[in-house]
Amino acid sequence: MRTLLGDLLAHRLALAPEGALGKRLYDVLQCAIQDGSIATGSRLPATRDLAQDLSVSRNTVLAAYEQLQSEGYLQTRTGSGTFVCDALPETMPDAGEIPVSASRPFNFVRLSSRGSRLLTRSGAGPHQWGAFMPGVPDVSHMPHDIWRKIHLRLSRRMPVEALSYSGHGGCVQLQQALADYLRVIRSLNCTPDQILVTAGTHQSLDLLAKMLCDPGDRAWVEEPGYWGIRNVLAVNGIELLPTAVDEQGMMLPDISGDARPPRLICVTPSHQYPLGSVMSLQRRHQLLELAKRVGSWVVEDDYDGEFRFSDSPIPALQGLAPDAPVIYLGTFSKTLYPGLRLSYMVVPKPLAARMKMAHSELYRGGNGLVQLTLAEFIREGHYAAHVRKMRQLYSRRRAELVRVIQDSLGEAFIAQQSNAGLHLILSLPDNIDDVALSAELEQNGVLTRPLSAYYLLGTTRRGLLLGYACVDEQQMAEKFAPILACLRRRLNPQGTPCDGA
Ligand SMILES: Cc1ncc(COP(=O)(O)O)c(C=O)c1O
Repeated sequence: MRTLLGDLLAHRLALAPEGALGKRLYDVLQCAIQDGSIATGSRLPATRDLAQDLSVSRNTVLAAYEQLQSEGYLQTRTGSGTFVCDALPETMPDAGEIPVSASRPFNFVRLSSRGSRLLTRSGAGPHQWGAFMPGVPDVSHMPHDIWRKIHLRLSRRMPVEALSYSGHGGCVQLQQALADYLRVIRSLNCTPDQILVTAGTHQSLDLLAKMLCDPGDRAWVEEPGYWGIRNVLAVNGIELLPTAVDEQGMMLPDISGDARPPRLICVTPSHQYPLGSVMSLQRRHQLLELAKRVGSWVVEDDYDGEFRFSDSPIPALQGLAPDAPVIYLGTFSKTLYPGLRLSYMVVPKPLAARMKMAHSELYRGGNGLVQLTLAEFIREGHYAAHVRKMRQLYSRRRAELVRVIQDSLGEAFIAQQSNAGLHLILSLPDNIDDVALSAELEQNGVLTRPLSAYYLLGTTRRGLLLGYACVDEQQMAEKFAPILACLRRRLNPQGTPCDGA
């Protein structure tokens, strides 16, 4: 049987069929070492074995090994075999020297211009948990015992359909449970057939962009706004029109006479992300009226609407009028945990069947047993109880962070914030570079996000988004201390005491 390395080299040799065999083998071995497919320090197969694997002569392999050894890629240890050197030669051959046939597939990956643009704007960092990561709930409170019991019970009498691709739109039990929950808790106007289960808000938006927009179509996005929404739309060729928000939510531009109204208007009306304003009732009616008049779809991203700590919950925009042109996006990322990757859309009835079919075509749904478990978890009341408990916990954590900031820096640093959500904004003076501050904090293991990065058009406003949801109340001051220290150095480089300190 061929070894894994044999498979890899044979595959790469087949991709580069031109030229002398010895040179090709040398090239693919060198590339595989350079790109890490063959790890530094690893032992290569004996020449006889590799020759057999690749159906080439032993001399061909020997010559390739010798050349790589003379160039500093390989070393032999008497009695032990041939190894890849721990430190590889520093100079990579320049593109002109690399034989196109052998090296191009592995060394030089040309991304599409769409892909490159996506990566230059990317916002998803490698660290997604810890103080003060914004937007992440306290996943450690997930009631796994209850979940596990339901999961076990269901798996004992599991319908075989739950193990196949999901039918159009996700499992019907979850659609039913969600419709019942959303009608009561978020005042939605919906029936189960309008619900489409997805694997995250990004997937919901990707589907909307593909099914409702053509490249070049426009979307209004909030300024500032969530980078994830902007990236998913932009990668689908949609032109983004950043639209300012005030304390009533998105400010609606006058588009009378505009020949190209937006196809999508993306809003976070219950809790504007990231500033936290709530869209006023008057603005909601104006938005729905405008969308109807110009034929736009309103995309309502209700990512954390459950977490309001003082006033009564704000009903969703979707439920304001029976024929509202609204597509409602919900997620379990904030109420349960992001790694669950379960979210949903509530789409107007005329769109539902086609969206579900398109979803199956593009992504093929799955996770039937998880969806069934979640349906039961909601139906038995555990979901509402968990959300209630977490709301109280986050409310206390928020209050504690506010107290710590007020005591250490002063009131001005947290001016005008809604009492809701999983993060707050530490307002900074305009002369503080929030991007540099956030980067410095990350190096010290403290996760924050710079407010200015949420603006597409730039801003003079500076601040840090601080997620308090996963920071224990007792540890709040201690966890905030590195932020305070870094900030004080910037506020007061001469070392004289600053206000509130
Ligand atoms: C405003 C907003 N919408 C949506 C999401 C993403 O939700 P999901 O995890 O379902 O992709 C986030 C994530 O942080 C968010 O901040």
